[in-house]
Amino acid sequence: MTSRRVFAAALFAGALAALVPGSARAQGQLTVYCSVQEEWCRPMMAAFERATGIRVAMTRKSSGETLTQIRAEATNPRGDVWWGGTGDPHMQAAEENLTVEYRSPRLSELHDWAVRQAQQANFRTVGIYAGALGYSYNVPELQRRRIEAPRCWADLTKPEFRGEVQVADPNTSGTAYTLLATIVQLMGEEPAFTYLKALHRNVNQYTRSGAAPARAAATGETLVGITFLHDAVTQKVNGAPVELVGPCEGTGYEIGSMSIIRGARNLDNAKRFVDWALSPEAQAIGAEAKAYQLPSNRNAPIPPQAPRFEAIKLIDYDFARWGSAAERNRLLARWDREVRAAAR
Ligand code: G6P
Repeated sequence: MTSRRVFAAALFAGALAALVPGSARAQGQLTVYCSVQEEWCRPMMAAFERATGIRVAMTRKSSGETLTQIRAEATNPRGDVWWGGTGDPHMQAAEENLTVEYRSPRLSELHDWAVRQAQQANFRTVGIYAGALGYSYNVPELQRRRIEAPRCWADLTKPEFRGEVQVADPNTSGTAYTLLATIVQLMGEEPAFTYLKALHRNVNQYTRSGAAPARAAATGETLVGITFLHDAVTQKVNGAPVELVGPCEGTGYEIGSMSIIRGARNLDNAKRFVDWALSPEAQAIGAEAKAYQLPSNRNAPIPPQAPRFEAIKLIDYDFARWGSAAERNRLLARWDREVRAAAR
């Protein structure tokens, strides 16, 4: 470069820096892919910005969609941290070498289930919350149609629920994949697909995002919404006339997770985010945003509204197996072929 060009470049850099607020200039930035509800993503990022001065660019997408995006960007990664969403696609990202190992000093503060999630992925992910799967129904709509209250998974395939059940698409949504893997673990694979095909006849819509059916049940747009139970609690807290069901046969659960993306441009800031997001203070933001998962830090307050695992019949969900690339891809392909494509 000639000295004049160097001078021009310096001027330009100076002008650019002047456009960036002081704290961001000092501390840099971070790009976060967020897979919980937007209502929780936003205050979480704002709190991290306040705590560190690091500027966060955040986009919200469902868990399966985020995995697809990170894979598509693998040769030119744009994201630094993937925060939230069900654990299975985080496990698959780890196996596919899309995320990197990081052992936060806060690991010792976490519940065993959150640490086990990290261990099973060679520390390329870590558990940040847990939540049980179930469904909710709209009470006045149920009464109006004189339908007996459902209690079990089996009830949802009854003829009176024809066109009355909503759930997400397991390709895009981690919630819906949790349902798929849960039913397979509960019933065995062949009976599970028989069940899912019967359920398909009663499904009015496969949504992109996992929590959407809880909102639809709250407004009566659908009678039943299959979601994580805490998503239905959010609706109830907002005054919706819904009842929650932890199905009688038993049910699965998620270990919501967080991973650092391989090739992160802001690796140091990504680690700072992970350490901060595992702190009790950061985990308390969930309940303030009406997100009622169980936090992974043992010292984080458990929201009183959070559905307690002790009250729900839970299966021993095998996260290593159902979060493996081979099993997840296989189950999704089979679901597309045999369930989604089936006539209703
Ligand atoms: C909601 C739940 C989270 C869950 C997430 C998965 O935000 O509150 O606990 O991890 O959905 O989203 P998805 O759209 O992938 O099913």
